[in-house]
Amino acid sequence: MFSNKDISHFANLETPFYYYDLTLLQNTLQACSNAAKVYNFHVHYAMKANFNPAVLEKIRSTGFGADCVSGGEVKKAVEIGFEPGKVVFAGVGKSDQEINEALDLDIFCFNVESIQELEVINELAGKKGKKAKVAIRINPNVDAHTHHNITTGLDENKFGINSWDLPACAETLKSCSQLEFIGVHFHIGSQITNLDVYKNLCVRVNEFASWFEERGFLVKVLNVGGGLGIDYHQPDEQIPDFASYFKIFQDFLEVRPNQEVHFELGRALVGQSASLISRVLYVKNGKKKNFLILDAGMTELMRPALYQAYHKIENISRPETEAAMKYDVVGPICESTDCFGKEVELPETFRGDLIALRSTGAYGEVMASHYNLRENVKVEFSTAK
Ligand code: LLP
Repeated sequence: MFSNKDISHFANLETPFYYYDLTLLQNTLQACSNAAKVYNFHVHYAMKANFNPAVLEKIRSTGFGADCVSGGEVKKAVEIGFEPGKVVFAGVGKSDQEINEALDLDIFCFNVESIQELEVINELAGKKGKKAKVAIRINPNVDAHTHHNITTGLDENKFGINSWDLPACAETLKSCSQLEFIGVHFHIGSQITNLDVYKNLCVRVNEFASWFEERGFLVKVLNVGGGLGIDYHQPDEQIPDFASYFKIFQDFLEVRPNQEVHFELGRALVGQSASLISRVLYVKNGKKKNFLILDAGMTELMRPALYQAYHKIENISRPETEAAMKYDVVGPICESTDCFGKEVELPETFRGDLIALRSTGAYGEVMASHYNLRENVKVEFSTAK
């Protein structure tokens, strides 16, 4: 991913910063778009994964829609130039203000997560003399076999409407004159690497879509969410296998003529396209452990502290010779969980060396915080190779 030219350029830059490889991003987006077109599938980019304006602009220009989870994301998507007719709005806790703003922007649809929310959207749309398009987010109770903090489709999760509440949901939909039901929505979790999980999801989607059809609803949209994982161990130029992913839905979903299949991919589109570049502030050699203390911490990249997530760590200032030392690689934040990796094998490392934390394009920059009064994390871009 990094040329020697990149690295000598980095040497003059203030660290830490996210380094976006826009060429790799472009290639990843194109691969996804080509694979989706084979089946005429529609992709909405899950903006929560990364809302850096340069990244969003690439995604918009590839022709994807936007999947948003807050009023802020809806507004940003439209501001960047995503067509409102390609913007969907999910989230368990949409405020009245957020709903009103989305109604004013005439977005494609609300992915609704409770019966009460249906009633609120109906009332607010009524006050504006509008009809709101809604898809029902159903909790399908499918285990995504992913980290328990990022699973969303089990009975114990807060997301979506549970199957036993669907009769009441159908009644509410029928009585709400300002709502137009367009279909069903699912999202079972993130960083899913076992594609068989999606076969189970397809079975449930078919069941629930039929359930609505049997009750006289026209199901125009099957939105199966996102969740496709990336290989954090192979960050180099790795483009996810979109073809195999989409083929599962083609093979296992029962799609009626005139029905659209929608996806909400986040991580798979942007994950591999960035690294967090940081500098070694101090090397502490102890009796039991050697520590590398970086100038980036959990405030710049939260995933390891929050989910014990793995990100490949490389010393890009030293030649890739055989690893000579083992280090615990930590940040400067006053929390013991501020650790990027334990016993990481690296060449002997010195103060001032540049360290790359790879595969940080998704849920990296967007989850940065100001804890310990840290500054905004910086960003750099590369296009040419
Ligand atoms: N659709 C909905 C309704 C979602 O909640 C999400 C992610 C997505 C789509 C996109 O999922 P993706 O394709 O990116 O897996 N911060 C965590 C991940 C949280 C995912 C939340 N929802 C992490 O760093 O792993």
